[in-house]
Amino acid sequence: MTEQQRVLLIIGGGIAAYKCLELIRRLREAGVQVRVILTKGGAEFVTPLSVSSLAGDKVYGDLFSLTDESEMGHIRLSREASLVVVAPATADLMAKLANGLANDLASTALLATDKPVIIAPAMNARMWLHPATQRNVATLKADGVTVIEPGSGALACGETGPGRMAEPDAILSVILDRLQAAPRPLAGRHALVTAGPTWEAIDPVRYIANRSSGKQGYAIAGALARLGARTTLISGPTALNAPAGVARVCVESARDMLAATEAALPADVAVCVAAVSDWRAAVGGGQKLKKNGAPPSVELIENPDILATLSRHNRRRPKLVVGFAAETENVVAYAQDKLARKGCDWIIANDVCHEKGVMGGECNTVHLVTANGVEDWPTATKEDVAARLAERIAGALTGVA
Ligand code: C5P
Repeated sequence: MTEQQRVLLIIGGGIAAYKCLELIRRLREAGVQVRVILTKGGAEFVTPLSVSSLAGDKVYGDLFSLTDESEMGHIRLSREASLVVVAPATADLMAKLANGLANDLASTALLATDKPVIIAPAMNARMWLHPATQRNVATLKADGVTVIEPGSGALACGETGPGRMAEPDAILSVILDRLQAAPRPLAGRHALVTAGPTWEAIDPVRYIANRSSGKQGYAIAGALARLGARTTLISGPTALNAPAGVARVCVESARDMLAATEAALPADVAVCVAAVSDWRAAVGGGQKLKKNGAPPSVELIENPDILATLSRHNRRRPKLVVGFAAETENVVAYAQDKLARKGCDWIIANDVCHEKGVMGGECNTVHLVTANGVEDWPTATKEDVAARLAERIAGALTGVA
């Protein structure tokens, strides 16, 4: 580890808190500084003295401690860490974070942080499986929190099932992976990515959609986040989980996607990967169309073009705007035309003809089309295409390439 990294560890109230003593020891052995917030519940399971002895630092626990606030306010506490780890993450702590509650030091620090958050839940199996907890887990993942899923087995409460906190070794390796992650050239930058299809209502139950899986856009959002960008993913309906460290905004229609994208500005870079429906029904919603008589004709009208709107934004045009061009023929020529028409800086052109299996598949063959010319990239997984594109974006924004 190059420079000294610091983890803010929040120990929640659960029997698994004892495993955190080992985690603190192992982190320090790995050269990581550990600062601890011990919740009231956590202090029922491990003592402040054992925690501070292992951490080599005082332990924080009371939001309204005047001494703590003057020495180290909750904002500084959360910002001075390279990342924040919650272990054990109780159902209560998760519910607070998922809903933005801040009524003690732990929840306040979590809300105030601008650093990646990793949580290791631990609780009774029924509490873990309860729809409310599962809803909170989904929300937290969508907010970019990394969730280290609990294991199954005998629980301290005597029941068996999922809910055992991951072992210190497993938590340690997630933390170290995160800390040792490659250089973060996009730290301090904001990246916007649109991904997935859009759904355009014909009536309350029918809609126009397309075959986009969202995989390429999600991979790009994840790759940008790994390079340190604060990343907002505006996603149409997909079956995918939000990548770690990415804040996802879920939308359905092109108009919602445009509104969410503009609401997320300003951004340093926007990558429009979404397969936005070009048209929507002139009259969508209302009542369900009935099957009596002749088939109805649905009048289509044009949707807003998100890529073109961003590219021509007066005050808040991102420094770099990247579009995608999915074509089934004349891939590069069409992309060059699109570059000029939409006013973006780069187009990633890809051949989505049926034989290539790009739509919904794992691989992609793309060409990077810019004002300077065309680069043909070798066929690679969508993850690898994403990593390469993220590096290029970092180079362009930092002036290295
Ligand atoms: O015009 P076409 O759909 O081929 O352009 C593709 C590019 O434009 C993609 O980057 C896509 O995300 C973006 N786009 C958009 N809004 C639309 C249509 C396309 O952002 N309404």
